[in-house]
Amino acid sequence: MILDRLRLDGKAALVTGGSQGLGLGMARALAEAGADVAIVARGEERLAAAAREIGATGRRVMTFAADLGDLDAALQAVDDAAAALGRLDILVTAAAAQLRKPVLEVTPEEWDRMVAVDLRAVYFMCQRAARKMLEHDPPDDRQIRGKIVNISSLTAVGAWPNVSVYGTVKGGVTQMTKAMALEWAPLGICVNAIGPGTFHTELTEALYADPERSARIVSRIPLGRPGVPEDLAGAVVYLASPASDYVTGQVLWVDGGYLVLGAGL
Ligand SMILES: NC(=O)c1ccc[n+]([C@@H]2O[C@H](COP(=O)([O-])OP(=O)(O)OC[C@H]3O[C@@H](n4cnc5c(N)ncnc54)[C@H](OP(=O)(O)O)[C@@H]3O)[C@@H](O)[C@H]2O)c1
Repeated sequence: MILDRLRLDGKAALVTGGSQGLGLGMARALAEAGADVAIVARGEERLAAAAREIGATGRRVMTFAADLGDLDAALQAVDDAAAALGRLDILVTAAAAQLRKPVLEVTPEEWDRMVAVDLRAVYFMCQRAARKMLEHDPPDDRQIRGKIVNISSLTAVGAWPNVSVYGTVKGGVTQMTKAMALEWAPLGICVNAIGPGTFHTELTEALYADPERSARIVSRIPLGRPGVPEDLAGAVVYLASPASDYVTGQVLWVDGGYLVLGAGL
């Protein structure tokens, strides 16, 4: 019974940033659980390669190329995905840009770009997706119509040098998750976030390229290793599935225990 409630057969999911890294891992996990999946990112070649990988699950996969810094294009991607899949039940907002600079050097243009991609696009894609979710009736008497999973970060709760803008937008994503969860609970839309710890992807390449620094990071992780995309599979399927129908407004930390260590070693 409980394993049935983790299944996503017949569901349609949109994953932003689904062409690589954590977004790809989550898109593949949703497809493995039975969902048809649309992925959006800028690079068409990587979108095509990701679609081949996700398609190996046997589920339908659609790709949409859009720069989420362009809000019209971001919203169009939601509309196009919902139209192509025939409905929208799940949104995972994994796309994000990073900016590594000390506060004293950040320019207003860099700030605006980060806010546009990492914060504004997330907010309004959630809004557009919620409207799509409201177009269909809930499948059962639990009255849940849709699931949104945003991606937070340790930088939303602690400060790290040189990622002030990223931490600011991730703090915003975390707070919007709670605000949307509250307003949309009566509408049957659950909004949660996953808070990944430290994962070795293109986004964190600058950290892991430095052996001393990466050893320091790993020494701070109680479970003794950085995360790999598959580590998010269980969390995203749970939060997207009927198994989590009574869970909303939460951040599920998937961080190898990073946050329980307190002040450090
Ligand atoms: N890696 C970590 O340790 C870590 C930790 C905590 C949270 N996170 C979060 O997890 C999520 C995924 O991160 P990741 O490490 O997998 O990053 P990644 O490997 O750099 O992948 C980022 C994805 O977002 C897409 N993207 C970036 N800018 C975009 C834009 N302007 N428009 C459309 N798509 C865009 C990229 O494709 P294109 O470049 O082709 O557009 C790619 O598919 C992000 O929200 C990140 O903040 C990561």
